[in-house]
Amino acid sequence: MTYQNYSLKQLQQIDAAHHLHPFTDHKELRETGSRIITHANGPFIYDADGTEILDGMAGLWCVNVGYGRDELADAAYAQMKELPYYNSFFKCSTPTPVLLSKKLAELAPKGIAQVFYGSSGSEANDTALRLVRHFWALEGKPEKNRIISRKSAYHGSTVAGTSLGGMDLMHKQLGGAVPNIVHVMMPYAYELALPGESDHDFGLRAAKAVEDAILEAGADKVAAFIGEPVMGAGGVKIPPMSYWPEVQRICRKYDVLLMLDEVITGYGRTGEWFAAQTFGIEPDTITTAKALTSGYQPLSALLVGDRVAATLVEKGGEFYHGYTYSGHPVACAVALKNIEIMEREGLVDRVKTDTGPYFAQALQERIAGHDLVGEVRSIGLMGAIEIVKDKATKERFLPAGSAAVTVRDHAIAQGLMLRATGDTMILSPPLIWTRETIDMACDRIARALDLAQADLRKK
Ligand SMILES: Cc1ncc(COP(=O)(O)O)c(C=O)c1O
Repeated sequence: MTYQNYSLKQLQQIDAAHHLHPFTDHKELRETGSRIITHANGPFIYDADGTEILDGMAGLWCVNVGYGRDELADAAYAQMKELPYYNSFFKCSTPTPVLLSKKLAELAPKGIAQVFYGSSGSEANDTALRLVRHFWALEGKPEKNRIISRKSAYHGSTVAGTSLGGMDLMHKQLGGAVPNIVHVMMPYAYELALPGESDHDFGLRAAKAVEDAILEAGADKVAAFIGEPVMGAGGVKIPPMSYWPEVQRICRKYDVLLMLDEVITGYGRTGEWFAAQTFGIEPDTITTAKALTSGYQPLSALLVGDRVAATLVEKGGEFYHGYTYSGHPVACAVALKNIEIMEREGLVDRVKTDTGPYFAQALQERIAGHDLVGEVRSIGLMGAIEIVKDKATKERFLPAGSAAVTVRDHAIAQGLMLRATGDTMILSPPLIWTRETIDMACDRIARALDLAQADLRKK
């Protein structure tokens, strides 16, 4: 690899001079220099100093089968030799997206059998937004175009993704969102449940916010509701089990489409292939990306339910939408192999029956009791740790978010890649993690919490 001709310092200098990173304060990064990750294997990543770090985030919620899978590299290589690219415009197709569509239709929840491809989750959500509005226009109801989303939702970083999302800081820099998108309360019991309110009742109340928004606009104006089954980037906010079935009931009552954004939860993270199955719902569209290829290739798949697909096909004419890389043959070849590996190794079932429950128990038994921890929660192999100054009152450290960054920095120094979002630590490891890996991660989190505590209480 040519980078080996460069020292770490040189790579950092070139990075600072030429590379604008996503979601980054560039001035700050240039002062500290970036961490250059050079290689990875199994559950570990390695930086240019050779430091081994256990990857608690599966890259960015995506490397579900872990690193160093020769089979995926071989699948990409073979496909590149045979046909590196051809498009699926002008009545053409290539074999791998055809076969991947069939496979996804088999795995998808009931009532979903069609797929539209892109290269990223953001693109897939653009497609979803356009598709549901197009659906209602084809149904003769073009004014039924409002989308209901949630505060703090993350649906990507394109203009449509940001507009669908509910991140205030992103909206502030947008200079004008896609019109007709409204945001309602999120199902985040830790901060929003009323004193004495049960989880079940809180879930119903959070769902009622969707109904209120429909009634406020008028059902004939509302196209769809969109939500992440478990809010990811917003802080692994896991709704009570009462929430999603009630949201589905409300959507059906008012004939509002239900769009799930499973860019994080899709492909096994919650212990089923899709979180729709975990929560027992049957959405009209499911946005997926990330773990579809375990991040080895950029690829997204919008899974389109029968009702929307039937209208698109029967009443459609041309849908003026698509991407150069829709159904990219190499990315689809890698996705097929990735799913084959997950099936062969039983990774999804392992999350459901073994590592998911063990992860939940380990977080409860070993992390929840720490003085800095207000709550731990998890579902499958995604989890969150709330960092607080006072467990009883849930008071946070100031300035907001600073304590979680302190914990994160100690965790990385202890050899565990953790993410901090606001005052919440996030875990979303590769699905190949075993009980031993979970123990290793908990040891490192516990040490990081102790060290952070010493720093924070000093201030
Ligand atoms: C729920 C959700 N939707 C959409 C996206 C956007 O995906 P991408 O970054 O591939 O555009 C993300 C990315 O993290 C996500 O978490």
